[in-house]
Formats: sequence, structure tokens, C-alpha cells
Amino acid sequence: MKCSLCEKEAVREIPYMKLFLCREHFIDWFNQRFIRDAKRYKLFEKSKRVAVAVSGGKDSTTMLHLLNEVSKQLNIEIIGVTIDLGINNGTKYSSKSVEIAIDNFKIAQVEYKVIDLNKDYNFTIDRAKSRTNRPACSVCGLSKRYILNAAAEEMNADTLATGHNLDDMAQFIFSGYIYGNFESLARNSMINPPERGYKIKKVKPFFFTPENEILHYAILKGYPFIYDPCPYSSEFGSVAQERIGDMLKNMETKMPGMMINLVKTFEKQIRPALHNIYSKDEDVGKCKLCGRPTSNGRDICSFCSIKNKLIAAQLTNGL
Ligand code: AMP
Ligand code: FES
Ligand code: ZN
Ligand code: ZN
Repeated sequence: MKCSLCEKEAVREIPYMKLFLCREHFIDWFNQRFIRDAKRYKLFEKSKRVAVAVSGGKDSTTMLHLLNEVSKQLNIEIIGVTIDLGINNGTKYSSKSVEIAIDNFKIAQVEYKVIDLNKDYNFTIDRAKSRTNRPACSVCGLSKRYILNAAAEEMNADTLATGHNLDDMAQFIFSGYIYGNFESLARNSMINPPERGYKIKKVKPFFFTPENEILHYAILKGYPFIYDPCPYSSEFGSVAQERIGDMLKNMETKMPGMMINLVKTFEKQIRPALHNIYSKDEDVGKCKLCGRPTSNGRDICSFCSIKNKLIAAQLTNGL
């Protein structure tokens, strides 16, 4: 098949645009959409220093390089942050991911910070998994949210960018409808201004970008990234999420553009309505242990509370 824009062979079909693109036109089209979306949705309005959370996977790695390339046009400075979650049992998943994230920070020549869950917080996701019966992913998700916010503040950033893509968002929205998690749906947007005691704005520049396009782009550009999935992604709750993701991907092949419609309708019409219902003046407290904000005026934040339980379990069950 020939490229829709020139005489070269196409390497990629964009079914929802009825386009076939050669390597150069695909890369060009992808770059232009990235900067257009960033400007159209005013992702970096008033941002000066943007911390990019890099896991070493294709999405956040691609985002790091793209944001770095357009940083002058957007008038922002880019810095990097990665967390060593201590997921290594048998797989060395975290060691490999952190190594790759650092390689990318060096290629992009950006200032960066590595946070080590073991050294900095005295626990790891492997030990949380083996010494307690908590699902690894819930401890991991909570830790990432807390640490990325705190690290961005420490690095004097005003904005935190994560690599969540269109497929992640479609899956999150659909599963929110199925399980009725309307409060978290109300809070999850492409752009979340600082709220409830936090200082950092959070943005998701790939909110409307399909996962398989990011993968193809990362390969064509030759970025180093980790292909392996997290070894805990086969846990019970995660399997249900994966099935929802597969179903959405299947529907997308039969109805091209369905995922973009789902996520756009949510972002433009449904989320604002949910936000009106669920945004209440919450009593924001200050954690007695770490000094960071707590929800519902609690004395101890959820992260410190889980961390202390995990450290206690490690001590009683033997480290
Ligand atoms: P996940 O929660 O694994 O779906 O990842 C969503 C986004 O969170 C990624 O695209 C990254 O921007 C960020 N992220 C996930 N894991 C890490 C990590 N270990 N270090 C830094 N950022 C991360
Ligand atoms: Fe957090 Fe898998 S990346 S449990
Ligand atoms: Zn072409
Ligand atoms: Zn705390």
C-alpha cells in the first residue's frame, strides 16, 4: 500500500483517519498531533518546569523525548524522575526499567532523579507482595502517586507529566462505569490542576493517543525501552482490567475511532458533570509523619499508613 501523502510505501495505517503513512509522514503526523494537542488543550499553560515520570516503558520514554524536543516551542524546561519499585524477584523488572530510564535521561540530556523505594522508604513492592496479603498493584499505585508528587515538588517542578495513553484511559473509564467508581472518574482528567493541598499540576499528553501508535513510533525512532510487562500484571484484579482492555481493542478494530470517541465524550461531557457532583470542599489535613496533605482531614496520610504497616509486617514476618 502506498502512503496517502507521497509515493513511498506505507508502514502504518491510521484506520480512524482513513490514512496510510510512510515512515517519514507517520513520524511527522505523530509529532504534529502531539504539539497540536498540547497547545489545543493548554496542557502547559503557566507551566515552567515539567517533571516527566519515566517508567522505562514505551509510553513515558516516548513522551520524555517528544516533550524535550518541543520544550522550546512550549516554553518549558524538562526534568526526569523514575522510581525503583523493587520488583525484582526472578525477573529484575525494576533494575532493568530504572537502567533504561536513566539511559533515556542521558540521551535526552535532562536533569533527573531516581527514587529508590527500598533505600528511601524501607520497603519494596516485592516484599509488600510476599509479606502481606495486599495486592501488589494497589500498594504500587498509591506509592507512585505519592512519590511522584513529592519528587516533583522537591525538584521545584510545577507540572508532572505521565505517559497514560488512550487505551489506558478508555479502560479506566469503561471499568469505572462497570464498577461504579464515579469519584475516581471525576478526578481523572487530561489536565488536573493542583488541588487538595498539592502544589503540582498533572498532565497526560498521550490522553488521546492510541497505544499501538506510540509503540510503532518508539520503535521507528529507536528509543531504548523495556518490553516486559510488570510480573504482577497477572494478579486477579489486573486480569479483569486486562480483559476490559482486550474487549475495547477488539471493538476498536471493528469500529475505528471508537476509543477516541469514548474518551473524548467522557472528557468533554461526562467528567465535568461528575466533577460537579463529587467536588466537595474536602477538609485537607497535614500528615503528622511526613507533613504532606491528607484527605478528609486525617492525621496520617494513606501512604505513611500503608508504609508503616508494611515495615511492621516485614519485621514480624522476617525480612
Ligand atoms: P502505570 O501506572 O504503570 O500504567 O504507568 C502510568 C504512568 O506512570 C507511566 O506512563 C509513567 O509516566 C508513570 N510511571 C509508572 N511507573 C513509574 C516508575 N517506576 N517511575 C516513574 N514513573 C512511573
Ligand atoms: Fe506496580 Fe506492577 S508496576 S505492581
Ligand atoms: Zn509519505
Ligand atoms: Zn504521610
